Amino acid sequence: MKADVFTLFPQWFEWFRTQRHVENALRLGHAVDTVDFRASTPLKWGQVDDTPFGGGAGMVLRVDVMEAALRGRYGVDPVQLRSQRRVIALTPAGRLLDDALASELAREPALTLLCGRYEGFDERILEHFVSDQVSIGRYVLAGGELAAMVVLDTVLRKLPGVLGDDASAVEESFSEALGGAPEYPHYTRPAEWRGWAVPDVLLSGHHGRVDEWRREQSRKRGGRPLP
Ligand SMILES: C[S@@+](CC[C@H](N)C(=O)[O-])C[C@H]1O[C@@H](n2cnc3c(N)ncnc32)[C@H](O)[C@@H]1O
Repeated sequence: MKADVFTLFPQWFEWFRTQRHVENALRLGHAVDTVDFRASTPLKWGQVDDTPFGGGAGMVLRVDVMEAALRGRYGVDPVQLRSQRRVIALTPAGRLLDDALASELAREPALTLLCGRYEGFDERILEHFVSDQVSIGRYVLAGGELAAMVVLDTVLRKLPGVLGDDASAVEESFSEALGGAPEYPHYTRPAEWRGWAVPDVLLSGHHGRVDEWRREQSRKRGGRPLP
C-alpha cells in the first residue's frame, strides 16, 4: 500500500509515522508519504486558497493549486488519475468510514488522501479530481489531517504482518467475522478483584465453549445475526 497524503501540514505525519503499527507497515514496504500543497502552488508567496465567490467567511482551497499538486506528484491529468487509484477527499459530509470501507481500502495498492483546511475544497476539486469523499463522523474538524490519520490507522492495521498477531484484526468490533456486531468482553488477571469474578467459562480451558460464549456475548451487544 502506497499512501500519499496531500496537506498543508506535512509535519503532523512525522508523529504518525513513528507509531508502532505504522512503523511496522513501513518496514514491510508500505509507504505513507506527504505532499505539501505549498511546494507546488503556481501562485505567488505560497498561496493555496482564496476567498469564496458570493462572499462569506473563510478561505477555500483552490482548484488550480490542487491540480498542480496532483500533476506534480503523478505526472498525469488529475481528471484521469481517479480511474488509476482511489483519490479520497476528507469531507465532513462524505461516506462514513466504517469497518467495511476500511477493509475495502486496505485491498487497494495505492491511496491518495486530500486534506482540506478552512472552508474546505473548491467544489470542482470534488467533482472532477476525486473518486471518493470520506468522513470520519458527523462533526467538523479544523482540517483533514486527523481524519486522514484515522483512515490510515484503521486501513494499515488490516494489512498482513502490521499487527503483532494478524488474528487481532480479524475478530474485532464490526468485523465480518462477528457479523458486524461489537466485540465480546475481554478479561485478564487477576481472575477476581474486589469480588468481581471473571466468567467461569473463560477459565475452563474449553475452547469450544469459550468461542460459543464469546459469539453469544457479541450477538447480545448488537449487530446483525451471525452466520
Ligand atoms: C473546517 S473543515 C470545513 C468544513 C466545511 N466548511 C463544511 O461545513 O463542510 C476543513 C476540512 O477539515 C476536514 N474535515 C473536517 N471535518 C471532517 C470530518 N468529519 N471528516 C473528514 N474530514 C473532515 C475536511 O478536509 C475539510 O475540508
